[in-house]
Amino acid sequence: MKNTELAQIALSEDQTGAIANPIYLSTAYQHPHLGASTGYDYTRTKNPTRSAFEEAFAKLERGTASFATSSGMAAIQLVCNLFKSGDEILVSFDLYGGTFRLFDFYEKQYGIRFKYVDFLNYEEVKGQITDNTKALFIEPISNPQMIKIDLDPYYILGKEYNLLTIVDNTFLTPYLSTPLEDGADIVLHSATKYIGGHNDVLAGVVTVKDDALAEQFADFHNMIGATLAPIDSYLLQRGLKTLHLRMDRSEYNAKLLAERCSNLEAIDEVLYSGQTGMLSLRLNKNFKANKFLENLEICIFAESLGGTETFITFPYTQTHVDMPDEEKDKRGIDEHLLRLSIGIEDYDDIESDIIQALEKSKEGVIS
Ligand SMILES: Cc1ncc(COP(=O)(O)O)c(C=O)c1O
Repeated sequence: MKNTELAQIALSEDQTGAIANPIYLSTAYQHPHLGASTGYDYTRTKNPTRSAFEEAFAKLERGTASFATSSGMAAIQLVCNLFKSGDEILVSFDLYGGTFRLFDFYEKQYGIRFKYVDFLNYEEVKGQITDNTKALFIEPISNPQMIKIDLDPYYILGKEYNLLTIVDNTFLTPYLSTPLEDGADIVLHSATKYIGGHNDVLAGVVTVKDDALAEQFADFHNMIGATLAPIDSYLLQRGLKTLHLRMDRSEYNAKLLAERCSNLEAIDEVLYSGQTGMLSLRLNKNFKANKFLENLEICIFAESLGGTETFITFPYTQTHVDMPDEEKDKRGIDEHLLRLSIGIEDYDDIESDIIQALEKSKEGVIS
């Protein structure tokens, strides 16, 4: 994807030539006469500001239709409506804790079966397919272990067994990867993250290229009602204009930091996929996470990702808090694991802040 294309797609007001897309707050739209519509009737069904974002985003994703939702979880919930009791979905073993929590609830409440599999092991995944399997749900860079999955074999497997391939592309964004172009059926995002990019909007988006799926999602979107508000839709569209710059800078900073941290006494393990601004660090047992977090001066101890500021999250009690301890153990989510979303600050500021906070986090050292 060309950088200029991103910026151009984000410009879409052709009636007035406005560079910034207008925010249509009106919830209702006047009908010209009985049986006629301007194309807009009621804002839950369709809103011009939301449509402008959805159209721009569908182009970026190489899809035909996008559905902007009130959160990333609402996007995942929208997709879950495709399934019924008895259906099975094969899910990335390592994934966002909130998704695990929702799937656990759906399994207990609605009888949809979610089977966690290791997508690094193709034979294991294939071996888990039964007559009831309907879909694969994959985080191509997993949260928080940053495991990078090669999706290509799963597009082929999905077609062979008539499974929907669903990709949570939150960490990569369409700037780095366009799974619909490669063979995925459904791509979703927590747009709260890199798409919005400034920690000021909660949003999700689902994109498809198949007309029948698009029709189903349009129905679900309108029926359930977790649609994105006009102001938030505007903020996402604004975010698109700088997505390429933010992604390049975050990734550049993350690469440097991953390399620097691999040589530190304080860090036992650096988990980095080589892409995006997301990385995790496993602290050496002589260094304490709580001390590290409270001594940060530039980086921020907070629970989100993909924004302009560097955020450090403690998955054990934050993003994965509702995952049972034995499940956390299997995924290496412990009191030593930190997840970093590297922002667009000056690299030297990030590095020096992390180094000074690590020095103060050594057990026995008074900060
Ligand atoms: C990979 C991933 N998917 C989905 C979500 C849920 O998104 P939201 O917080 O916007 O509801 C998150 C949130 O952190 C996430 O990291």
